[in-house]
Amino acid sequence: MQIIVAPDSRLNQISKKVEIIDDSIISFLDQMLECMYQNNGIGLAAPQVGILKRLVVIDCSDNKDIKKPLKLINPEITELSKNISEFEEGCLSLPSQYAKVIRPSKITLKYTNTEGLICENKFSGLEATCIQHEIDHLDGKLFVDHISKLKKNIIIKKLKKFKKKI
Ligand code: NI
Repeated sequence: MQIIVAPDSRLNQISKKVEIIDDSIISFLDQMLECMYQNNGIGLAAPQVGILKRLVVIDCSDNKDIKKPLKLINPEITELSKNISEFEEGCLSLPSQYAKVIRPSKITLKYTNTEGLICENKFSGLEATCIQHEIDHLDGKLFVDHISKLKKNIIIKKLKKFKKKI
């Protein structure tokens, strides 16, 4: 699996809902997790590897030895808190770039799990931020779309330079 680096129009597309959860979806989610761990990420969305499907994997465990993987099919935020929090965000599609992003601090998330069951859970802290960041990817948005145009342009310029080297 190859992670697409911004700027790339493939990262600005809206991903499609997954209608049938079959073995290919399950194994794709496992491959996404593997790819995320290999790159030391805490979240990965399918469009980042060129697949426009509403699939996300995250693992915000702060202990490297204890894995807490979450596989989300068609994740959808049903409630956002009024309270906000700020995290310094990064993204595997924006290597070595970081910026502080303000988002609601708590969310209620509806998603389908790998057994095909619809789940609804509340998340807070880093997990809430990470999930919002990943769902943004499914809607063609990046974390730099939440910061000032000036800061965004600086980051995009750096990435363009970086892409010329690789
Ligand atoms: Ni990202």
